[in-house]
Amino acid sequence: MSKQPQKDRALATLLSSVLADDNGSITPPIVQSSLFAFQDYQAFEDRMAGRSDQPIYTRVQNPTVAAFETIMASAENGAAAIGFASGIAAISSTLLAFLQPGDRVACVEHVYPDTYRFMERMLRPFGVQVSYHSVSQFETDPELLCDVKVAYLESPNSVMFQPMNLMQVSEHARKHGVVTMIDNSWASPVFQTPIDLGIDIVLHSASKYISGHSDTVAGVVISSQDHISRIRDLTLPLLGAKLAPFEAFLLTRGLRTLSARMKQHQATANLFVDRLASLPEVRKINSPGANDVPGLRGRAGLMSLEFDDSVDIPKFSDALQHFRLGVSWGGFESLILPARVGLAQAGEKNSMQHFGVPPNLVRLNLGLEDAEDLWADFTNALRTSVA
Ligand SMILES: Cc1ncc(COP(=O)(O)O)c(C=O)c1O
Repeated sequence: MSKQPQKDRALATLLSSVLADDNGSITPPIVQSSLFAFQDYQAFEDRMAGRSDQPIYTRVQNPTVAAFETIMASAENGAAAIGFASGIAAISSTLLAFLQPGDRVACVEHVYPDTYRFMERMLRPFGVQVSYHSVSQFETDPELLCDVKVAYLESPNSVMFQPMNLMQVSEHARKHGVVTMIDNSWASPVFQTPIDLGIDIVLHSASKYISGHSDTVAGVVISSQDHISRIRDLTLPLLGAKLAPFEAFLLTRGLRTLSARMKQHQATANLFVDRLASLPEVRKINSPGANDVPGLRGRAGLMSLEFDDSVDIPKFSDALQHFRLGVSWGGFESLILPARVGLAQAGEKNSMQHFGVPPNLVRLNLGLEDAEDLWADFTNALRTSVA
């Protein structure tokens, strides 16, 4: 564990904080109501005129969703947050709130595949220019963001897990008045708080570590009051991809254990990184950890590694007992995703094909099972699949 006890203790306490209601309930009630009636005409008019903030309609405001948003805003050190129906809803609704035809987005390479598809299949046809740049281009070229409206970042990025010096990039962005957005799903607020590093808007697929139980699809965006108001006024009501009260309840429940889960994911990831380094079949490990870039406080359980040609990857995948084959990540269960499967995808070019992912790469999601059991499973499967 990196030396961040103060921050971590404060966050763990915050994430388990009680959301009191009149009955003393220690979990937020699920307010399963589409609309909220007003006591009298004056209360209704006051709300419409902006003189009160009583909820009107769950597409825009709901108390259970608000409870989740309040904790997320504090956890990410932002002023406000909005929950969404999915991570990609948070991403698309946020990008669309800030972009118009003719604007340019500078996006990091190896971005999450559906974010790439959103850029290519939605933003580009609507007249938004999109360019992709490596992590080091973002870090070292202060003029890269000249004439750019939005810098869209992930640190680390997907599949290759390259971390970025966000302090440096946000400095370049400020110079050019660029709005910076980052997908912080991998680190979670336990291991990285990008707003503290100068980033404007933080996005999460809450389906991953925030939920932690692989039973929810959701997203959240955190930022300043101004940025959040813009999204709440525009794309939240008009695209309507709102978070549901029951999902918000599950996410708040997930947040209670986020800090403890991230510690466990990190302990297992550290064990794997140490031991993988001595396996002759492993060419490269992509797994950033504490202090690899400023502000990164830990190593999450999602990583990738590249095997040498001696490993039969389909055979290896099928020999695993505890690791399941599948997409997504961040839950309690360990998963493997071979790059080959992504590279074999039919249809239009996906991001893995576009950015060129090594075919011998496999992504591991290290879950909450016993680390030694996972390691034994991994090495047993490897033994049976080496030529
Ligand atoms: C890094 C990252 N961002 C965003 C998403 C999209 O989130 P969701 O599936 O909740 O829409 C994913 C999903 O896999 C992801 O891995």
